[in-house]
Amino acid sequence: MKTVITYGTFDMFHVGHLRLLKRMSELGERVIVAVSTDEFNALKGKKALVPYEERREIIEAIQYVDLVIPEYSWGQKEKDIADYTVDLFVMGDDWAGKFDYLKNHCRVFYIDRTRGISSSSIKRALMLEVGK
Ligand code: CTP
Repeated sequence: MKTVITYGTFDMFHVGHLRLLKRMSELGERVIVAVSTDEFNALKGKKALVPYEERREIIEAIQYVDLVIPEYSWGQKEKDIADYTVDLFVMGDDWAGKFDYLKNHCRVFYIDRTRGISSSSIKRALMLEVGK
């Protein structure tokens, strides 16, 4: 069974996230998503509007996803790849090249990002709407 993994915050869940997860399900039989915890986001200097437990609940409900685990540190990927016998590590192409160091552990693939949408752009649009 081929296992595919990805990592991310998945705040304000949107169609770019959905398409990434769907594509992953086409690339393997088991899809694992590591969702960034609020504590890890704080370390990254990032703040999600939706709390971790709710982001996790949403990702768990997606039909393309088999397992959700917490992402709590930059350094956990090698251990996750070994623990879950991961064959393929996937990220959107905004991360192209950044995880090539994992190629010693499994295949690494960068998926075309959906253009024109992001959690940040939704937040910006909401702020403009509220400010009207
Ligand atoms: N992603 C994607 N297409 C988009 C937005 C995100 O394929 N339009 C992918 C990212 O490349 C990443 C995963 O979804 O592999 C989770 O990304 P995340 O950073 O949580 O989403 P963004 O919408 O990019 O959030 P932000 O604006 O906060 O960076």
